[in-house]
Amino acid sequence: MKGIILAGGSGTRLHPITHAVSKQLVPVYDKPMIYYPLSVLMLAGIRDILIITSPGDVKNFSALLGDGESLGISISYATQEKPRGIADALAIGSEHIGGDSVALILGDNIFHGPGFSWSLKQNLDSIDGCVLFGYPVHDPERYGVGEVDSHGRIVSIEEKPEKPRSNRAITGLYAYDNDVVSMVEELRPSSRGELEITDVNRMYMERGKARLVDLGRGFAWLDTGTPEALIEAGQYVRALEVRQGVRIACIEEIAFRMGFIDQESCYRMGLRLNKSEYGRYIMELAG
Ligand code: G1P
Repeated sequence: MKGIILAGGSGTRLHPITHAVSKQLVPVYDKPMIYYPLSVLMLAGIRDILIITSPGDVKNFSALLGDGESLGISISYATQEKPRGIADALAIGSEHIGGDSVALILGDNIFHGPGFSWSLKQNLDSIDGCVLFGYPVHDPERYGVGEVDSHGRIVSIEEKPEKPRSNRAITGLYAYDNDVVSMVEELRPSSRGELEITDVNRMYMERGKARLVDLGRGFAWLDTGTPEALIEAGQYVRALEVRQGVRIACIEEIAFRMGFIDQESCYRMGLRLNKSEYGRYIMELAG
C-alpha cells in the first residue's frame, strides 16, 4: 500500500500564523503537525509516501523530512498549485499509486487512541474497495457524514449536510484499492470547481464496496483548524505525554518499533536533537 499526505491549503482560519508557514508545519505541542498523519501511515506499515504541498512549501517540508531514508521509508514530494479538492491528491498521486492500493490522509488530522495500529492493520491489509473511518461528533453538519448498515457497509454519504442522517463524521483518512485510480480519472469537478472526495466515496458505496470503521468512544480525532482547536490539540498531546512519559507520533520511535530502522540509527537520530527533550527521549528508548 502507498501513502499520500495532503498538506496543501492556505490555512486561512489560522492567519496570520500561516501567512509564511504551511499549516501542517505549525507545532502541535512538541512536534510539527505533519508528524501526526505521517505516524498514522507508518503505523499502518506504509513505507512509500508522497507529500503534496503548495509549490512554495516543498523546501520546508523537505528540510524537515528529506527523502525519508533516515526513517527507513521513502518520502517524495508533489505540488498542488491551488487547493482543488481532496480527491485532487489522488489525481496528482496517480503515478505514485501505480498498481497499488493507497491510504490518503489529510495533513492536519490527528488520530490517537488505543488499538489504532491494530485496527489499521486489520482494515487496510488486502483492502477490497474503500475503507473510511467514522467518528461520532456533536456537530456532524461540519463534515462528510456516513450512514452504515449492520455490516458496517456505507448506505448513504453526504458532504456537510444540513440535516445529518447520523452523527458519524468521516475523518480525513481514506483507504482505497487500485480501482480508485481509474475512478478519479472519471471524476468531474463539483459546483465548487473541486474534485470532491465524497464523490469518490459515493462511487464505492454504489458498488457496495465502501466500509466505515467506527473509531468509537475513547478515541481522539482532533481538529487543528482554528487557534482554539490548535491549542486544545496541543494540550491533549501534552497531558498524555507528561503523565505517561511517552511521546505520541514520535516518528523516529515508530520507525524503530516497526523495524524500519535499527537501534543504532534510531539513537543517532535522537543524538541530532539532543538539546531537546524530544531528542533525549529518542536516545533513551534506543539506548
Ligand atoms: C474535509 C472533507 C470532509 C471530512 C473532513 C475531515 O472537509 O470534505 O468530508 O469530514 O475533511 O477533516 P474540510 O475539512 O475540507 O472542510
